[in-house]
Amino acid sequence: MKLFLDTANIEEIKAANALGVISGVTTNPSLIAKEGRVFEQVVREITSIVDGPISAEATSSEASSIVVEAKELAGIHPNIVVKIPLTAEGLKAIAELAKKGIKTNATLVFSANQALLAALAGASFVSPFVGRLDDAGHDGMEIVSDIMDIYGTYDFPTQVIAASIRHPMHVVMAAKAGADIATIPYQVLKQMIAHPLTDVGIKKFMDDWAKVPKK
Ligand code: G3P
Repeated sequence: MKLFLDTANIEEIKAANALGVISGVTTNPSLIAKEGRVFEQVVREITSIVDGPISAEATSSEASSIVVEAKELAGIHPNIVVKIPLTAEGLKAIAELAKKGIKTNATLVFSANQALLAALAGASFVSPFVGRLDDAGHDGMEIVSDIMDIYGTYDFPTQVIAASIRHPMHVVMAAKAGADIATIPYQVLKQMIAHPLTDVGIKKFMDDWAKVPKK
């Protein structure tokens, strides 16, 4: 499974990228708004840091306008993937963009049926929102498992991004469900690294090392 970073914060992206464990970035309009910067500048900067798929979201609602927006976004850098909400208009746009070879990420996906439609339309990626499903009283990861089963049965090439990841156990569960990718906030990445026994172990080793004669 690959890890993408779910943020538009340049410092977080640089720090995560330096760890060598991140192979893409996902953004959304809310994450971009948090940075208070011009959308295109932020996206350009991200493409200069991470050499992998960078999701930037289209904000039009009509298929024809989504396609125009998607072409502009795709023109920024070859690694751009256009995130498109899973609506009827979104599906039309995904199908048209697939024919033109523009990569898409079907977003705001909350059911296996929506994911099935995304794959049939030719989406390159699909993003089921695990945390938001959990928030609504569902088992978000069960949807990811269902999507993996369905995509596996029919050999759909659409890659599944477990999104709306809220804590490290979500990442373990996504990996066990066979998700192609989990896109995670920087905070979750930091939580994945840390373990109190690692800190205790380092302290013990260093304390013992200090007792070793050096010459
Ligand atoms: O980028 C999409 C998704 O990961 C959003 O997560 O935490 O706002 O539900 P969240």
